Amino acid sequence: MLPSGLVVEMLYRIDDSKMPIRLGSALRVPSYAYEAWGIRGDPAELRKLSEEAYTVEWENGSPRQMQYVSDAMKRAGYGDFPQMLREANAGEVARLVRARKGPVNICDVGAGLSTVTIFDGLDDNDKNRVWITMIEPSRDRLMSAAETLQRKGFRNYTPVVGTDMQKLAETPWGSKPHVVSYVAAIHHHSDLEPPIKLVYDVLADDGHLVVADWHNPMWEHPNRVYGFLKTLDWKTKDRDMGAFVEMFPNAIVDAPLIRDPYEARAMRMIQSFWKGWGLVRTDAIKRGEFEPRDDIFMLEGHRTLRMQRRDAVKSGFVPEKEEQLLEDSSLLVVSSYRKI
Ligand SMILES: C[S@@+](CC[C@H](N)C(=O)[O-])C[C@H]1O[C@@H](n2cnc3c(N)ncnc32)[C@H](O)[C@@H]1O
Repeated sequence: MLPSGLVVEMLYRIDDSKMPIRLGSALRVPSYAYEAWGIRGDPAELRKLSEEAYTVEWENGSPRQMQYVSDAMKRAGYGDFPQMLREANAGEVARLVRARKGPVNICDVGAGLSTVTIFDGLDDNDKNRVWITMIEPSRDRLMSAAETLQRKGFRNYTPVVGTDMQKLAETPWGSKPHVVSYVAAIHHHSDLEPPIKLVYDVLADDGHLVVADWHNPMWEHPNRVYGFLKTLDWKTKDRDMGAFVEMFPNAIVDAPLIRDPYEARAMRMIQSFWKGWGLVRTDAIKRGEFEPRDDIFMLEGHRTLRMQRRDAVKSGFVPEKEEQLLEDSSLLVVSSYRKI
């Protein structure tokens, strides 16, 4: 029998409780990097364990978690990247709606502020011909976004509590969705193929998958994480770094060079974000306001754009548009894939 809940959280995870930034389980890194992390086993079983490790983080997620993420980005000296992604995603969704006649079904997966931004970004004469399904495992975050839509006078939406893998197939669509969007959400899968294939199956024939996400190669190798951790300071650093090397021996083996300058810059930027997150988190703890459910964990399924595109193409999608939001880095990209 597979372990679940708290037990899964502890798999491939060192005791990170004293660290300024918590790592979480390495089961969450992109599955193509499992070998480098020394994670072995039946791929289907590992996939289930990884999904479980993610669910524990998100189903209790707080609305404030998103505010801290934006604060961390600002603290790192960058703009409000989460909102930039939402707005660029909303721009692409509005373009796709504009190009269609009649009623349009939109589904926002990992719904929240991104859904409100989609609504705001629609042309005024399109706002009354869309129906938006919002799929999100955190009930609090979902309801808080739904209330905002209500306040704006929008009624054509269905909030659904759950994950994509649980709800996409069973949501009672009036007709199939024409646009499915994920804003900073699809990387919560170590393996992108199952959710992308599922989206492909539920979409209307000429429908679109829009993925607005953070891309970087940081989580492909434990040596990259180890190198970053070396730059931080905390009381139990020697003990925790030792535990990291013991659990992930490749931590002290050089990772492959990153040859693409856009990816290299994306990795430096994500490192700055995590430094910012550490500061925001420490300040919130000092003020006595940080709750365990506000936390996010560093080891994540973010991957390079190339690897995401590879999985979309394997699932049958055709890349139609890729909008890189930052001039010198591939950190933030909105990708639009068409079902053919
Ligand atoms: C970084 S947040 C972004 C939220 C929202 N899209 C926005 O931009 O404001 C990621 C969201 O994805 C949700 N999530 C994580 N795994 C998911 C899954 N498998 N299916 C649906 N949503 C998921 C989380 O609960 C979280 O709300």
